[in-house]
Amino acid sequence: MVPPFHEQLINWYDTHGRKDLPWQHDITPYHVWLSEIMLQQTQVSTVIPYYLRFITQYGDITALASAKLDDILSLWTGLGYYARARNLHKTANILVKQHHAEMPFSIDELVALPGIGRSTAGAIMALAHHQNHPILDGNVKRVLARYAGISGWPGKKPVEQKLWKIAESLLPDERIANYTQAQMDLGATICKRNKPLCLQCPLNEDCKAFLLGKTELFPTSKPKKEISIRQTHWLIAQSINGEILLEQRPASGIWGGLWSFPEFDNSTELTFFSQEKLEVNPQEIQQQKQIRHAFTHFKLDITPYLVHSSDIYQKIDHNKIFDWYTIRDALQLGLPAPVKAFLTLLE
Ligand code: ADE
Repeated sequence: MVPPFHEQLINWYDTHGRKDLPWQHDITPYHVWLSEIMLQQTQVSTVIPYYLRFITQYGDITALASAKLDDILSLWTGLGYYARARNLHKTANILVKQHHAEMPFSIDELVALPGIGRSTAGAIMALAHHQNHPILDGNVKRVLARYAGISGWPGKKPVEQKLWKIAESLLPDERIANYTQAQMDLGATICKRNKPLCLQCPLNEDCKAFLLGKTELFPTSKPKKEISIRQTHWLIAQSINGEILLEQRPASGIWGGLWSFPEFDNSTELTFFSQEKLEVNPQEIQQQKQIRHAFTHFKLDITPYLVHSSDIYQKIDHNKIFDWYTIRDALQLGLPAPVKAFLTLLE
């Protein structure tokens, strides 16, 4: 019979867990709160020097509340996610005004404070007050998803709710603080996202993902956004003496400030422009083979249309800059890669 989850975990913690972190030296609700906020999405090694500077500067909730936000943000520089610092300051002020400058003792009051979610509140209750509450930060989601074989991306509400239920069901009757720290430490050092050290894991006899040999499938990764495909139509107008009409793109957006062929959303607009501005007969517009260009977040399907124009069209639209260039001169401009490729082909 395999011992229960909490027993395995606490036994492991006794020999392998972290017991000498700065916020474990003088455990107060303020220290636990501050460290838990700093540790959100941030590694222990990064947090340590920030934490030490912070408690030297702001020794208690009252000191933090009366600080200038700019000074707090300056001390936070480099730690990232600055909303955390703003929320710390806001919460410190609420605590001074409404809670006698003390951290509240109930989970409901904790989660009502800016910047404190259910997991952080659970950690404060467990680590500072030795109250039985579960936590579910990113590391613990991974541990539990693997242990219980829960598939689905934990960013999805139903999956997260399932994991909270499991977290609640596994709580120990005693040593909640060590148990909580153990989950965090196991997630960070053994049950790592990539290449977890399952052979050293105290939970491996019962871990569904390990027993299936599929730790890499748990938890399910965030679904990749489907790459959209956009359409555009290029007018490749060549004058009698071989010059090409180019348009400078707006400074912002894709290919910002580069020179490209005049672009149209559809062939009707392109035909209209060719007729109106370049005096091209629609029958003389030659549709070319489509080109696909891949950006990071989308693909662009470009349909080029070749026309020969006898008219020298210049800068009519005030918002747009058009000009005719010899191919050789055009190749000296800032050009998007597919424009350059097409010009080279024309040359
Ligand atoms: N990550 C979040 N809270 C932590 C803690 N108390 N110790 C180590 N890593 C953590």
